[in-house]
Amino acid sequence: MARISVFGIGYTGTVSAACLAEQGHEVIAVDIDPAKVEAINTGESPIVEEGLAALVSENRKAGRLSATTNIGSAVTESDISIVCVGTPSEPSGAIGLSQVFALCTSIGNAIANKPGFHSVVMRSTLVPGTMETVCVPELERASGLVAGKTFGVGYFPEFLREGSAIKDYFEPCLVVYGALDEVTQSMLAGLNVAFSAEHHAVDMKTAEMIKYTSNSWRAAKITFANEIGNIAKSVGVDGQKVMKILCSDDKISMSPYFLRPGFAFGGSCLPKDVRALRFLANENQVGAPLLDGIMAANENQVARAEALVKKFEGRTVGMVGISFKPATDDLRESPLAALAQRLTAAGYTIKIYDPFVKSAFDDKMAGAGRGNDRVEDLEEKLVADINALIALSDIIVVGHHYEEAVGPLSAIIGQKPMVDLTRVKPGNVSGEAYEGICW
Ligand SMILES: NC(=O)c1ccc[n+]([C@@H]2O[C@H](COP(=O)([O-])OP(=O)(O)OC[C@H]3O[C@@H](n4cnc5c(N)ncnc54)[C@H](O)[C@@H]3O)[C@@H](O)[C@H]2O)c1
Repeated sequence: MARISVFGIGYTGTVSAACLAEQGHEVIAVDIDPAKVEAINTGESPIVEEGLAALVSENRKAGRLSATTNIGSAVTESDISIVCVGTPSEPSGAIGLSQVFALCTSIGNAIANKPGFHSVVMRSTLVPGTMETVCVPELERASGLVAGKTFGVGYFPEFLREGSAIKDYFEPCLVVYGALDEVTQSMLAGLNVAFSAEHHAVDMKTAEMIKYTSNSWRAAKITFANEIGNIAKSVGVDGQKVMKILCSDDKISMSPYFLRPGFAFGGSCLPKDVRALRFLANENQVGAPLLDGIMAANENQVARAEALVKKFEGRTVGMVGISFKPATDDLRESPLAALAQRLTAAGYTIKIYDPFVKSAFDDKMAGAGRGNDRVEDLEEKLVADINALIALSDIIVVGHHYEEAVGPLSAIIGQKPMVDLTRVKPGNVSGEAYEGICW
């Protein structure tokens, strides 16, 4: 069992401290507010949360939980500090780091005087990069020690929900953590050993991003459901019934398939139907700001791809894919065609490898080039062979994943400028001569 100091006796800190003590650890809770410290020491919870009062009382009686305002003694008498102080919004919307920064200074000063290794783990919600650019430098400055070597550092986001926080603690939806050093990493693994949820041991910045993604995703889902509910009501339909039925479909509607960052959507249905629903919402005076944002964000993704192409030297762009999605010759509202149009307008010469669009032309199908209102002389731009496309082009844009193209494209990564909208090689990230749109 570990000796743990938990900083911040608020919602997160009290639940963490009481639950860690319940697991058998020796826990010292620390706060600048003497009233909260006194509450813990008299066996009372300083906040309202189902089951927490009993947990605090029992663990206080068992001698596993105590509280103090003395940061120095809490650090000396523990092996790991878990920080749960607040990160409220600044008036600008930026994250407020004053509590976190002050505590990094105090804990840094305390570990400077402590013999032996100490780990500092942040549980407060921190925007990606905060550990690296704020916490670690301040802890190092204040302690005179080296993070990851002479003291440990980790980030361990909390996913509990107020109201069901204790249940969420013991049955976590996600276990994510990252550390600079093996001692802290294995301590974090040890603290989570009893939980059956998969452990995601990642770098600290990824852990920071996952926490924000989780909260923003939840907020987006709530807002989407509300917007649909408002529109449904405006046409005399029960919005809750609509969303309940939609949520019963895990093949498409709730599938993770559409939650993979990449390029814009297009085609004959999604853009026109989002537009029509927005129109209906505005006509019925309920508004649809999230649907409005979807269209703007989708256009932004095309502009982003164009900007990535423009980072490279060269005037001939070879596009892998031009139809709205792989394995079809349908070009209606294809975002790749929109990208080709923007690049042509910017003076680039476009060559295209798209076996489905090409075969429609080669076979003289009546619908060849269906829906193309953006790419002039499309048929002339088509190239039959992926290797020929690569040879003809200064810059490659990978819009679709075609199995036969993976080998030749993988072979030129880092050799020839490439903007990758699909991720030809799993795990590959942007580097010299290679720009992945979201990686
Ligand atoms: N509340 C939630 O449900 C929840 C869930 C997951 C993550 N989080 C994140 O956890 C963090 C804490 O949130 P919260 O709701 O528990 O905040 P809170 O405001 O309830 O608690 C923060 C506590 O930190 C104390 N504090 C401030 N400076 C201190 C210092 N220098 N030393 C010791 N104690 C200090 C405050 O007195 C307060 O008691 C935030 O980053 C939040 O985003 C919150």
